[in-house]
Amino acid sequence: MSRIMLITVAAAAVIGAAIATLTLSPGTMNGVSRVIGTTGQALIGGPFKLTNHEGNTVTDKTFHGKHMLVYFGFTHCPEICPSSLQVMGEALERMGPVADAVTPVFITVDPERDTVELMGDYVSNFHPRMVGLTGSEADVGAAIKTFRVFAQKVKTGDDPDDYTMDHSSFYYLMGPDGMFLTHFNHGISPEKLAAGLTERLASS
Ligand code: NI
Repeated sequence: MSRIMLITVAAAAVIGAAIATLTLSPGTMNGVSRVIGTTGQALIGGPFKLTNHEGNTVTDKTFHGKHMLVYFGFTHCPEICPSSLQVMGEALERMGPVADAVTPVFITVDPERDTVELMGDYVSNFHPRMVGLTGSEADVGAAIKTFRVFAQKVKTGDDPDDYTMDHSSFYYLMGPDGMFLTHFNHGISPEKLAAGLTERLASS
């Protein structure tokens, strides 16, 4: 668990720096989205092109018009990803009809193993509307970079398949225009995530 804690702290520092930059930007009024809107540059999120769990090519624009709650991980993750995605699904259930404004999205950091079929089976465990995204190493790598996610392969044995992925663990809430709105930390309860999302949706 110490490794995970370190990653979380490191990733939190990256997000913290990004938010600090936004906050300090000239012309800041009241809210991250306003600043991003004026500079035209989102520090977290942006264009991506991936394949959904039904095998269709999708881009960031595919998700415009609704909020998107994004989590990066991998299906072979023993504990962190399943628990985080379970919280995501539960939070959306708790929100009732309000949750219809949010598309839950799971993006793999392990495209080597996470096939379209595997992603489909996996996301169906957590929420009926959850979208699983995978793609080529290059396309997934680009998405990881766009969202400033930390992900790194760690060998666990001699077999090529013997590896795990270290990765940061955050929920990113994007607005209907695809711009970053806020993030929620790993370990949040379904109740708090539901409340946080509901509050943010009401003000955007
Ligand atoms: Ni994981």
